[in-house]
Amino acid sequence: MVLLMDSSDYAEILETNLVSYLDITPIILSSQTELNQYMSRSTEIGLIVTSTCIDGRDILDGISTLFDKMGSDIPVIVIGGPKKPASKYSVSKIEEVPKKIDMRSFLKTVMRLLSISLKDLKSLPMPDYMSYKTRLFKQVKESPCDLYIKIGKGARANFVKFCHAGDEIDKVRLKSIENKNVSFLYVKSVDRLRFTNKVSKVMIENIENSNLYEESGIGDEAREELLDDMKKEERDKEEAIKESSDVVDIAIDMIYDRARNGGPMSDMADMTRKIVSKVVSRSASNKNVISLLKKLISNKASFSYRFIQITSFIANIILKEMDWKRVEQIQTLTFASLFRDVALEGEEELLRIRSEEELENLEASDQVKNKIKRHPQLALSALDDYPDMPYGADVIIRQHHGSLSGNDFPESFSQRLSPLSIVLMVAEEAAFLIIKETEKEDEKSFYKKTEIVKNIKAKFSSRRFLKVVDALEEAL
Ligand SMILES: [Fe+2]
Repeated sequence: MVLLMDSSDYAEILETNLVSYLDITPIILSSQTELNQYMSRSTEIGLIVTSTCIDGRDILDGISTLFDKMGSDIPVIVIGGPKKPASKYSVSKIEEVPKKIDMRSFLKTVMRLLSISLKDLKSLPMPDYMSYKTRLFKQVKESPCDLYIKIGKGARANFVKFCHAGDEIDKVRLKSIENKNVSFLYVKSVDRLRFTNKVSKVMIENIENSNLYEESGIGDEAREELLDDMKKEERDKEEAIKESSDVVDIAIDMIYDRARNGGPMSDMADMTRKIVSKVVSRSASNKNVISLLKKLISNKASFSYRFIQITSFIANIILKEMDWKRVEQIQTLTFASLFRDVALEGEEELLRIRSEEELENLEASDQVKNKIKRHPQLALSALDDYPDMPYGADVIIRQHHGSLSGNDFPESFSQRLSPLSIVLMVAEEAAFLIIKETEKEDEKSFYKKTEIVKNIKAKFSSRRFLKVVDALEEAL
């Protein structure tokens, strides 16, 4: 099931209810492009829930075109109702749910369209505890039930009480556990419906309040007040941007942690998609390459986090320069960049090894050396159960050091490397050289483009790399 929403708050309310009541974890998408891409990969969608318009466009128009092209016809629930009469769209089952959502009737409609019976619901096996994103708890003042933190993994996990029912949720403590990579709090399954009802109610109120000014006209007297509010909003926005980059950092850590511990990766897909689109939109919205690179480099995060960010960013600007602007290509490369070194994450010394010669000179056991050599292939094993990897990302991950098998560091590169692998190889080399250069304490300048391009041309001298290296030279 897909939730196609431009408001993440709305999507979160629906998601929380779907998980709690129907045990359905929906895929959350936020644009028509994301839907097109998702549907081209996945055939197992039973229902789409969407708002009337996204980015100002009638979304049912876009869905109709997509269905025509793919020969699909999946029921669609439109929150707020379709813009035109239902017969104008080529979707045979359109259901309307009012914008001021009545959760009970929404869930009933979902059950009807997915043919879920009450009997099915009763027979669902229920775990003892259910997890909810910590973000949700920021919206609630008093906890409607006991909340827990999970310590440990698998069957040996313990649940420690974080907050008692009826107590105020301590937001400082919440922030501090988030900073320690705790992204979920747990609720006993028996309490889940009470919890969901309360959170939904509060969040719907919050959303309604935030739209207050748009919906009601304001008089002169209220204008000053509104201006003050807008200034405050501006400050809050800056704060939120800072916070969201911390969140990305924490989320990436969580994903790597999961991958290193042998999965499962399936429930990390949503978060990964969000990170990828965040990195992509960051690259797209920044016209000043040097200023963004400076920001990325001065980030106090770990070497590996900076390496990922800068590689993704450079790969994106190379694609743009080459006029390969299809969003799928950018997302595939960003995804590959995020996971390519996952097998070595947290081990900076190992991440810096980039050739057979450096590997030989490294003082390490054969086992470690073998891990370094095979890290592209190991990354793919870690992603084995990843549900909807962007098309072609596996090839790029395998080939990102120029080896077709993903098991060594070749001195010369095969003619059969994929074009996107070549982009990532060049971007990664540039990112590595830029980080290395700015680590020199005596360097006054930021980085020397000519030096970097010279080094890259020396390393990638074959004809197939020429166009990509030229694009890098233009883009930097
Ligand atoms: Fe690598």
